[in-house]
Amino acid sequence: MPYTKIIGTGAYLPPRIVSNDELAAQLAQDGIETSDQWIIERTGIRQRHIAERGVTTSQIATFAAQAALKDAGLDAADIDLIVVATSTPDFVFPSTACLVQNQLGISGGAAFDVQAVCSGFVYALTTADALIKAGNATKALVIGAEVFSSILDWKDRSTCVLFGDGAGAVVLSQSDEPGILATQLKADGSQNHILCAAGNVSYGEVVGDPFLRMDGQAVFKFAVNALSKSGQDVVAQAGLTMDQIDWLIPHQANVRIINFIGRKLGVPTEKVVITLDKHANTSAASVPLALDAARKDGRVQRGQTLLMQGVGGGFTWGSVLARL
Ligand code: ACO
Repeated sequence: MPYTKIIGTGAYLPPRIVSNDELAAQLAQDGIETSDQWIIERTGIRQRHIAERGVTTSQIATFAAQAALKDAGLDAADIDLIVVATSTPDFVFPSTACLVQNQLGISGGAAFDVQAVCSGFVYALTTADALIKAGNATKALVIGAEVFSSILDWKDRSTCVLFGDGAGAVVLSQSDEPGILATQLKADGSQNHILCAAGNVSYGEVVGDPFLRMDGQAVFKFAVNALSKSGQDVVAQAGLTMDQIDWLIPHQANVRIINFIGRKLGVPTEKVVITLDKHANTSAASVPLALDAARKDGRVQRGQTLLMQGVGGGFTWGSVLARL
């Protein structure tokens, strides 16, 4: 059976940066109190990128995909599979992946979306890996992309300070050498209510609540337990030990969650990639954005072993262990 290797990474962040102070000033106009100090102390977030109104997920996904293709030294025409992880698709249908395929100027390969909220990238990567290993595809784009600002209630300080917009992508190739070493996907639908945007378009109207709602403390506890167990599982599945992991690249939700997971897994802080101070939580885009940032600044190198982890609404979680 062939292996799957990550041969390129790319990212796109909307140019507008909103600092905590700017956001606090904006909320103050509606009589809502928050501060740079509260946001940093509780989350580690200092700023987020926010897309201009009208910018779509497929557009930023395409920019990230083009950057990843350039990094891999491939043309879009080489790609025979596109998987987009997003909770903020352009449309009910067609899928964002089909729109990206069209914007890349290609056709004929498979293209579909994966909906697993903040675990979306890990779900999409695992799915593409399986399709490549089964011989259904040879070169894939796996993209996490979100315009999360479009589903935030900008009058709810307990959620709107946490998120940002962005897109990250990887190019996967069938390979004779090991790349993706082990994967695990999990879900517990009984916890669907602790993090949701429980709205829909039905009979021509928005029904339910179109904004993201969250029980922060329940999510916090769930994320720590789920990801520490999942990380141990995939490392054992690959026959490795935690000290052989070069980098932990976790979902970027909250620095306190990340620190707890690192401690539980026994991964020292200097081996943990953190980008949420600059990007905030970009949901399905957070792991590929962190991977790309750490590759571009020279931390993550070819040949290193990476533990990538996602956790989010559903509830869903999972891990991918990969040699770059
Ligand atoms: N600014 C100032 N005060 C605030 C803000 C804010 N932005 N948001 C909430 N508060 C207040 C609350 O109203 C509360 O006030 P009260 O004590 O008068 O009632 C107080 O701060 C404490 O609120 P808690 O919810 O108890 O604060 P907590 O320490 O739990 O931090 C947080 C909240 C940051 C959301 C935390 O629970 C958390 O990080 N949870 C994980 C959720 C997460 O990261 N979600 C991201 C999406 S999920 C995912 O990606 C997996």
